[in-house]
Amino acid sequence: MVYQLLNGDSFNAFEPDNPVDPRLFAGRKRELATINQALVQTLKRRSRHILVRAERWLGKTSLADYIKESAPNVHKLASIDEVSFEVAFRRFGSCTNLDEAALLILNDFKTLLGSSDELMDYVKKIKGLTIGPLGIEFSGEKQINLRLHLSEMVIKLLEQYGEKEKAYLYILDETRQLSHIPGSANLLKDLLEALNQERLRNVMFLITVTPQDDERFRGDHESFQRLFRYVELGPLTDEESRGFLHDTLAKHCVPNLKIEEATLYEAARLSSGFPGFLQEIGFWLFEVGKTKKPPLGEAELELAVNGNDNTIQGALDALYRKHFKHDLEGLTSAQYEEILSTIANYEEPLCPRRPLLDRLDISAQALTVKTGELIERGILIKEGGGRKKPICYAFRNPMHRTIYQIQSAVTRKKGSR
Ligand SMILES: Nc1ncnc2c1ncn2[C@@H]1O[C@H](COP(=O)(O)OP(=O)(O)O)[C@@H](O)[C@H]1O
Ligand SMILES: [Mg+2]
Repeated sequence: MVYQLLNGDSFNAFEPDNPVDPRLFAGRKRELATINQALVQTLKRRSRHILVRAERWLGKTSLADYIKESAPNVHKLASIDEVSFEVAFRRFGSCTNLDEAALLILNDFKTLLGSSDELMDYVKKIKGLTIGPLGIEFSGEKQINLRLHLSEMVIKLLEQYGEKEKAYLYILDETRQLSHIPGSANLLKDLLEALNQERLRNVMFLITVTPQDDERFRGDHESFQRLFRYVELGPLTDEESRGFLHDTLAKHCVPNLKIEEATLYEAARLSSGFPGFLQEIGFWLFEVGKTKKPPLGEAELELAVNGNDNTIQGALDALYRKHFKHDLEGLTSAQYEEILSTIANYEEPLCPRRPLLDRLDISAQALTVKTGELIERGILIKEGGGRKKPICYAFRNPMHRTIYQIQSAVTRKKGSR
């Protein structure tokens, strides 16, 4: 899609609403090195498993997609001739019970192994399962507790149909719902341990989680985390951010756009390295710039970030509406926004109660109630509260804090004109 030019139409290559196209993937050198190491180990039958942990919109799915594309070539880069990767990618999405999850996993291993006739025959003989249009299905007569047999079945499949020249990468994305199912961490742990025990160490799992999902998995099974190497995704560096904006504008958008050096620096700085924010700024920069004379400068950036009343929504408003507005639904008092804005603009990420009480016209009791609501909704987190440490509040999602900071800066700037 990226390189396609539709009869002289312009083409905006930024993707604020989707995982990034692997060809435009920016940065993450260190994280990729860790994952590549695990891939190479797995090619050598010494599998390692990876847990990619990051808040929403920091790029878990983008990274997973990138690995999915690159894994089949890793053996060449590592100069290993005899083995290559097969990859399966699972978005768990709305899966709600363990047997259903087990069935999805079983189907993915069928995909990994390729569907030979023998394998199909083998599955058909298993009581309670059948092969339908969607792959392996429950046969309906008598529901089997697939979760209890999953490890055993996967191992049988791998032992009988796995190939010596193959390593298998299984990517599990969108695990929020899965992490809510009691027993889910156990299911995965049993499977990983069974693979290990049977010396099926050419199988690697890469699982993406938010910190909240991770906590739930660990609550479900405390030793879950020990099976993995953690790869934490933070914001991109300034240099990575600039590289992404510059290259996407200059090489992948149609028409290609140039941007002034200083404006590039400012755009990267404003984004704080949040990839979703960079995509949004880039998207609107292109929309502002495609009808103007290049290069893009300070005025174009301001419009791309703040928008105007008609055609340009702007990055701030777009982000806020898409990701954070609904978290505040039903909270009609303007004080909620004031509280959030004050916490965002406190010099440290952790904001104590004092500046809130000083700067806002609010009683201690009302502050407790309102912050309680914001914590309940997962917008804020609370720390301290013991005798030694005062209560402090922080944004759960750091990108949310950044949006409020920039919003305040914009309002101040407008006010001072
Ligand atoms: N490495 C990257 N390079 C460029 N854009 C990225 C990168 N990682 C994420 N993005 C962008 O950030 C936004 C959120 O990414 P996504 O992978 O959906 O995050 P998550 O799965 O953690 O919620 C998307 O707009 C995506 O295009
Ligand atoms: Mg995702």
